[in-house]
Amino acid sequence: MPLNETPRKAAPGRARVLVTRRVFPDLLEQLCQQFDVADNQEDAPWSTTELASRLQGVHGVLVDPARRVDAQLLADAPQLCAVSNVAVGYNNLDLAACTHAGIVATNTPDVLTEATADHAWALLMAAARRVVESDRWTRAGNWQGFALDAFLGAEVHGATLGILGMGRIGQAIARRAQGFSMPVIYHNRTPLALSPDAGTAPPVARWVGKDELLASADFLIVLVPYSPATHHLLGASELAQMKPGSVLVNIARGGVVDDAALVAALRLGRPGAAALDVMENEPKFDSELLPLDNVVLTPHIGSATRSARRGMVKLAMANLADVLQGKRPRALLNPDVWEKRRVYVHK
Ligand code: DGY
Repeated sequence: MPLNETPRKAAPGRARVLVTRRVFPDLLEQLCQQFDVADNQEDAPWSTTELASRLQGVHGVLVDPARRVDAQLLADAPQLCAVSNVAVGYNNLDLAACTHAGIVATNTPDVLTEATADHAWALLMAAARRVVESDRWTRAGNWQGFALDAFLGAEVHGATLGILGMGRIGQAIARRAQGFSMPVIYHNRTPLALSPDAGTAPPVARWVGKDELLASADFLIVLVPYSPATHHLLGASELAQMKPGSVLVNIARGGVVDDAALVAALRLGRPGAAALDVMENEPKFDSELLPLDNVVLTPHIGSATRSARRGMVKLAMANLADVLQGKRPRALLNPDVWEKRRVYVHK
């Protein structure tokens, strides 16, 4: 029987859980010890209609960040008590709708911080030193010999790193910058009291206004969460404020950067290069990005190390189990719901 057709262990009195994407089999097995689990090992994302029908009688659901969970979907899930997002970003969840329906929503902070910071650096370095462009060129058989002016890139060491949205991941990125002797500036709505994290020293970073950030950063990494307020936070006029030849890295969410404006700006060399792990309308992003040699693209894999992704799934499952067992979950997104939440009643 296909794993995604029916609960694997239908036992009376157990809560029903739906896992909407393929997850690590050993972790799924652990979930099956506690709950009646239906899953999607084929990993073809379900349509909203199909998901709504699969949610019938389900008490807890695990979703990925591409899955929109809104009032309409929740209205079709009268027994649902918990929505567990396997991501730290939760712009896909309508939290007000969850709270209104009495549904607890959770996410997966911390476990992906270092992996995502590493990927931000991988993108920065790749764009600065033209790694992908020169790899393509070399594979195409173009290399005739050493040249002093081949693929000249941007100097990373000692350059100014700008961070737009200094949260946990931004701080982990800033810590790494010390190894490159880079001054770090950042912009958040309010300056932070930066503090040690996980036994490490606090990052050295200076708060600046957004205009100064744009005008001073040689490398600008975007980390703000996506919301209506941050939609196209970097549009044509902001991109025009960036330094000629600077490098923009978006590892936050598509939509924070106006990708069409970015294409136009890259053609003008301001910024000089970009590296995007997330794009507007992904996976069907702006095809005008494709012919640009000064763009590095990765398919939303910022947290994609085995250990981080396992950590995310484990935390998402723990969040779900906590809620269904009446415990406050570790990463609760809508605390207002707690006293008036829908409770799974063990039958
Ligand atoms: C997140 O967690 O928000 C990432 O985008 C997925 O790893």
